[in-house]
Amino acid sequence: MGSRLEAKNPVLAEILRSDRVRDSSGAEIPLDANNISALYADALYQTILKYAPATVLEIGMAFGISSLAILTALEEIGGDGKLISIDPEQAGEKWRGIGIANVATCGFAGRHVLVEKPDYLALPELLNSGLRVELAYVDGRHTFDYVFLDFFYIDKVLVPGGIVGFNDAGWRAVHKVLKFVTRHRKYAEIEVGLKRTYDARSPLRSQARRVLGAPTQDRYFRKLADWEPAWNFFAEF
Ligand SMILES: C[S@@+](CC[C@H](N)C(=O)[O-])C[C@H]1O[C@@H](n2cnc3c(N)ncnc32)[C@H](O)[C@@H]1O
Repeated sequence: MGSRLEAKNPVLAEILRSDRVRDSSGAEIPLDANNISALYADALYQTILKYAPATVLEIGMAFGISSLAILTALEEIGGDGKLISIDPEQAGEKWRGIGIANVATCGFAGRHVLVEKPDYLALPELLNSGLRVELAYVDGRHTFDYVFLDFFYIDKVLVPGGIVGFNDAGWRAVHKVLKFVTRHRKYAEIEVGLKRTYDARSPLRSQARRVLGAPTQDRYFRKLADWEPAWNFFAEF
């Protein structure tokens, strides 16, 4: 049985059902796991519905699955809710503008802005423009430096009480950033209806994840305050 998100957005439901998107010539392209799962898309959609952010920022658009989840909720809420997606490769060989085309097909183009630059250029520019957001979703380049940089800037544009979600939270690089989030800033994890999972390639690794407290489901954090530690602070993370 499909989720509430799939019931609300038949275009997205068909993409998730077939595990394929179409390019502008109609040719089918497999998603190839480049997207967030249907489960995480539904959790993202439900989170947007619950917190009704005015402005959402996402890093990493690809074929647009997370974008469609966010925009479906913003449309359902009504009002002026907007999504800004950062992705330097949307028009490139891999995504071929399909994410943007999917947004247009669903009638969401008026709520959506794509910044086609890498995060390390786009985020400081958006901060400098005075952007403030109520919700952010991180699913760009997954190495520690990039995820850390995404969070560093998101922390600066996110309003107190705002929410940041992370895909692939069980990846070692992402998990390391999440430890920084909770030890070097004032954030509290929130529940978004996802069961804690510790999936790994082997039962031994799953057990290690459990012991280390490194769950693999998408994880969301609420910003408690605009806060930075003293200039010379350090704590292991
Ligand atoms: C896992 S995919 C995103 C999937 C998407 N969230 C979805 O649900 O369909 C990662 C995306 O990050 C983008 N990306 C790669 N380097 C980036 C960078 N430096 N800044 C922002 N996005 C980047 C890629 O082009 C790709 O679209």
